[in-house]
Amino acid sequence: MSVGVLGTGHYVPPKVVTNKDLEQIVDTSDEWIRSRTGIEERRIADDDTDTSDMSFFAAQNALDEANVKPEDIDLILVATVTPDTPFPSVSCMLQDRLGARKAAAMDISAACSGFMYGMVTAKQFIDTGVYKNVLVIGVEKLSKITDWSDRNTCVLFGDGAGAAVLGEVAEGKGILSFELGADGSGGKELYQDENDHLQMNGREVFKFAVRQMPESSVNVIEKIGYNEADVDYLIPHQANIRIMEAARERLGISKDKMADSVKRYGNNSSASIPIALSEAVKDGNIKDNDLIVLVGFGGGLTWGAIALKWGK
Ligand code: ACO
Repeated sequence: MSVGVLGTGHYVPPKVVTNKDLEQIVDTSDEWIRSRTGIEERRIADDDTDTSDMSFFAAQNALDEANVKPEDIDLILVATVTPDTPFPSVSCMLQDRLGARKAAAMDISAACSGFMYGMVTAKQFIDTGVYKNVLVIGVEKLSKITDWSDRNTCVLFGDGAGAAVLGEVAEGKGILSFELGADGSGGKELYQDENDHLQMNGREVFKFAVRQMPESSVNVIEKIGYNEADVDYLIPHQANIRIMEAARERLGISKDKMADSVKRYGNNSSASIPIALSEAVKDGNIKDNDLIVLVGFGGGLTWGAIALKWGK
């Protein structure tokens, strides 16, 4: 049994907040943000649009592309650290709104690695033959846990949702290998504080990320007997262009073979990889039989990587 992606979708809110806009609210500059992070602008959801709403729009897009009906979904997995409420889960809200009557539903909390954890979990249920179609979402409304007076963090994040429908694909395609990891001793480097604000030790997270992303990317390729030169497209977690470049350079692939949406959306945590994947598909940057590496890292600390042969 080979498990792969039947369709992808994404949604980003229409409101654009530029670096210049942020210059008005904290002591920062467009030049500082661009040179340290690669971010030029980000999308921020309005008060009436919560995490479940963005999930719904992205899910509809992915189901359409996959040509799968809501009633044929067996399981909904929503990766998020910014749910509407701790419970009911976003996945249950989505199950109801989509009319996915037979689907089981649960949320996954693995911060920016959440979509990796979701895809790998989906694969297990499909591999065992228990479920046929699994809807995996990565979604965040980070603006609601952002401290808008803290220039160290508020310039980095944005809101959005990405989705994929996973199911059986042709032999040799789909998820070929994966790696998931966690190091809870690093939890203090990236967390939500008692005021519900995101706190981060940027330098420590940076060091962890530039080590982990290249290492995990190489691990998933070597597990299947391929090498770096075989990679057709790299989709790293869109946190910071300097971290992404470290992974790209380690793999020795050219700039045009790496997803780069961080400049338009900032860091969308668990939504960043599925948004970038969905855009790459829609923009024609991924072709049938391409070898794609998806790789993420985030709070927990957590990390995850997947080697995926594109196509059904
Ligand atoms: N504008 C202007 N100056 C700033 C800003 C800002 N927005 N933010 C920080 N500074 C200042 C700092 O105060 C510091 O000043 P000081 O030297 O007087 O103290 C100076 O800039 C340099 O700070 P550094 O921390 O050295 O900057 P660095 O080059 O490390 O970049 C950054 C900071 C962008 C946060 C970087 O460390 C980074 O990207 N870290 C990883 C972050 C990340 O990936 N987070 C996502 C994790 S995913 C998840 O789970 C949510």
